Amino acid sequence: MELMTGLTQRKSIRAFKPEPVTREVAASILEAARWSPSWGNTQPWEFVVVGGEPLKRLTEAMAARFNERVPPNPDVPMPETFPDDYRARYMDCAAGLFSCLGIKREEKDRRFAHMLHMTRAYGAPAIIYVTFKTGLMVPYTMFDLGAITHAICLAALAHGLGSCIEAQLALYPDLVRQYLNLPDICKIAVGIALGYADEGAPANTFRSSREPVEKLVKWLGL
Ligand SMILES: Cc1cc2nc3c(=O)[nH]c(=O)nc-3n(C[C@H](O)[C@H](O)[C@H](O)COP(=O)(O)O)c2cc1C
Repeated sequence: MELMTGLTQRKSIRAFKPEPVTREVAASILEAARWSPSWGNTQPWEFVVVGGEPLKRLTEAMAARFNERVPPNPDVPMPETFPDDYRARYMDCAAGLFSCLGIKREEKDRRFAHMLHMTRAYGAPAIIYVTFKTGLMVPYTMFDLGAITHAICLAALAHGLGSCIEAQLALYPDLVRQYLNLPDICKIAVGIALGYADEGAPANTFRSSREPVEKLVKWLGL
C-alpha cells in the first residue's frame, strides 16, 4: 500500500472477523515496525503477541475486573484533565462512535457493555502488547513507543489487517503480567487489538475527524 494512502486511510477498527492472525503475519508487521525511530536508537520497546486461549483467558479476567468496577492502575498514567478544546474533541469522538453504534447518551448500560467489549479487545483474534522496562516511564520513551505503535498499525493495514490501539487493554497491568507470565520489570504501555476488519459492522463505519492543517501550523520562512 502506498504510504500516503496508508497514513490517511488508517483508522481504528472496533469489530473483527473471527479469522485468526497468523504468527507469520504478526512477525512481518513487527519486522517492518521495528525500523521506527527512537531516542538515540535506544529502541525502548518489547512486545507480547497473544491470541487463542491465552487471549481469551486474559481478556475474560480483565473484563471480570472491569465489571466489578475495580479502579484501574495503568503503568502509564492517564491524563486527568484536558484543555477545553481537546476535551470537546474527545467528547465529539465518543458521541460519533456511539451514534454509529445506535447507543444514546442516557443508555448507561449499553455504554458500559461497549466498554466491556473494548476490554475484550472488541473480539479481535490477536493483541500486540507494547511494553517497556521499569524506570523508563519518561516522556521520550513514551514518544518512541507512540512512534512504533503507529508503525504497527500502518504495517497491519499494509497486510490487510485492522487495528485499534487500546489504553483499555492496559488498565490492569498486574493481570496482563500474571496471565502473560511477564516479570514485574515489564511495564505495559498499550495493547493493540489486531485482526481482519468486519467491514459492515456499525462500529467500523465511524471515522473520526481532524483539525485542518491551517489551524495547527504556524508557517515561517516558507
Ligand atoms: C494511546 C491511545 C490509547 C487509545 N485507547 C483506546 C481505547 O482504549 N479504546 C478505543 O476504542 N480506542 C482507543 N484509542 C483510539 C483512539 O480513540 C483513536 O485513535 C482516535 O479517536 C482517532 O481515531 P482513529 O484512530 O480512527 O483515526 C486509543 C488511541 C491511542 C493513541
